[in-house]
Amino acid sequence: MRWSSMSIKPVLRMGDPALLEVAQKVEAFNTPELEALIRDMHDTMEALNGAGLAAPQIGVGLQVVIFGVKRNPRYPDAEEVPYTVLVNPVLTPLTRTMEQDWEGCLSVPGMRGIVPRFANVRYQGSDQHGESIDRSVDGFHARVVQHECDHLEGILYPMRINCCGNLSFQISSILKPEQASCCASNCARWRALRFPLSTMICAVSR
Ligand code: NI
Repeated sequence: MRWSSMSIKPVLRMGDPALLEVAQKVEAFNTPELEALIRDMHDTMEALNGAGLAAPQIGVGLQVVIFGVKRNPRYPDAEEVPYTVLVNPVLTPLTRTMEQDWEGCLSVPGMRGIVPRFANVRYQGSDQHGESIDRSVDGFHARVVQHECDHLEGILYPMRINCCGNLSFQISSILKPEQASCCASNCARWRALRFPLSTMICAVSR
């Protein structure tokens, strides 16, 4: 596709209230509007080298997500995820096991965080033509789909982080995922900071 024919949209950033809204179900398939939305999302994700994008991130409050990771010889360990258009998704965790790993988000530029996610999930929904999709996945595929579907509920990954010590600028790999679950001292410090704050808010609103 030629650059001139691409439709790259601005991505909303954390702090924009539209990112906190719950997205609406798509009612009609095979419409020019849905095709245009998916083209915009695809071109925007490609241009920004994202692994996924949800419609609310470009200001459209509909239950549409796309994701995909191509094999890259520079990252031989990176898992391939098939390019998927997923409309009206329903997620079901298949285990109670949670895994901690790094995530980034085009709406939270320059930052990364260690986020707990279900290790195995089933996702159901349909593609842009209304054809049903039903997959059970694990690893990075499971992580990506949970991250993208969270956007449809108005949830950004920093809201899933157990402890603010697991949120970092993209400067280095200071934190390792295996350290994330043993940051009890950080969490205790975080709580110590938060409780006086909430007490203050209560006192003010009384
Ligand atoms: Ni995101």
